[in-house]
Amino acid sequence: MNIGFVPILFLLLCHPLLRADDTSEKRLPNVVILATGGTIAGSGATSTTTVGYKPATVPVQALIDAVPELKKVATVQGEQVFQIASQNMTNEYWLKLAKRVNELLQQPDVDGIVITHGTDTLEETAYFLNLVAKSAKPVVIVGAMRPSTALSADGPINLYNAVLVAGSKEAVGRGVLVCMNDQINSARDVTKTNTSTADTFKSPELGVLGYIQGDRVAFYRLPARRHTLNSEFDISGADKLPNVEIAYGFANVSRTTVDALAAAGVDGIVYAGVGDGNPSEVTEQALADARAKGILIVRSARVGNGIVARNSEVNDDKRDFVVSDTLNPQKARILLMIALTKTKDTKEIQRMFYEY
Ligand code: DGL
Repeated sequence: MNIGFVPILFLLLCHPLLRADDTSEKRLPNVVILATGGTIAGSGATSTTTVGYKPATVPVQALIDAVPELKKVATVQGEQVFQIASQNMTNEYWLKLAKRVNELLQQPDVDGIVITHGTDTLEETAYFLNLVAKSAKPVVIVGAMRPSTALSADGPINLYNAVLVAGSKEAVGRGVLVCMNDQINSARDVTKTNTSTADTFKSPELGVLGYIQGDRVAFYRLPARRHTLNSEFDISGADKLPNVEIAYGFANVSRTTVDALAAAGVDGIVYAGVGDGNPSEVTEQALADARAKGILIVRSARVGNGIVARNSEVNDDKRDFVVSDTLNPQKARILLMIALTKTKDTKEIQRMFYEY
């Protein structure tokens, strides 16, 4: 090669008009919308049918076409990954979605991803992806509490806001986000708090990360726990996930549920205990018997907020139990399931519950 040519080429490539990062500042962000179903894709018989509608009927392109304003803020393309009511979510759907998300996130021309999803298990999919998505690029999960056919359907504005956030530089590096009702919540802390109202998603006590107001994306804090690029978990090679289920605590509880889960051969049990994650004496013995069979036990709480502390009214050291810290039972189940893809060591798993 004529050595004189190299410096000229180098100078040309550094020229502002040619540098990719400068042109990227002028073009609209490329956002991929992955549709999975739910009420946001739901339809009802009349414009006032806000219950009794059919979820998971409207295809992704129709969702996009219903919001022509998207073209102002991003270049979007849609994919229908699957079309379900999210109470029917399975580990197989999660693995399919996570693998497609990670494929897209590795593409240099993809700036962010939006996932449209039913709200019933939206917080769980969000947390699952928070643990296994391998990029700092925004991944934003969005749903709706009213079907697309309803008066004041919240889906279109939620979708517009989600695409705005997914294409924003401000959202980079904040983990998987849930955007609904003009609020931005973290995947780890958000939960569905009302069966039917548009403001259902909240991060009780720990609070929102930010807001969308008009076309402004405004953040006020960062998630404190490990996620996405800083996660040690990798499901790229997984074709199935460990089986972890939840047993619920209440006054006069028997050991029936715990014994049934153990007999079914689960890999882990999360106990949604009363108060500080407390089982009764009867269920504590059932959990101990399950542990003795090699089943991992995590004590969470049905309470909804606060820390489940080790060795409070239960001697977790003696029982070799793990505590969920502040993760609610449905999220503790996800972290235990993912942790079991790496280890069955309870000290290691307890570390994970204190870090994620
Ligand atoms: N069947 C529920 C689901 O798909 C509908 C609730 C919703 O999406 O808001 O999660």
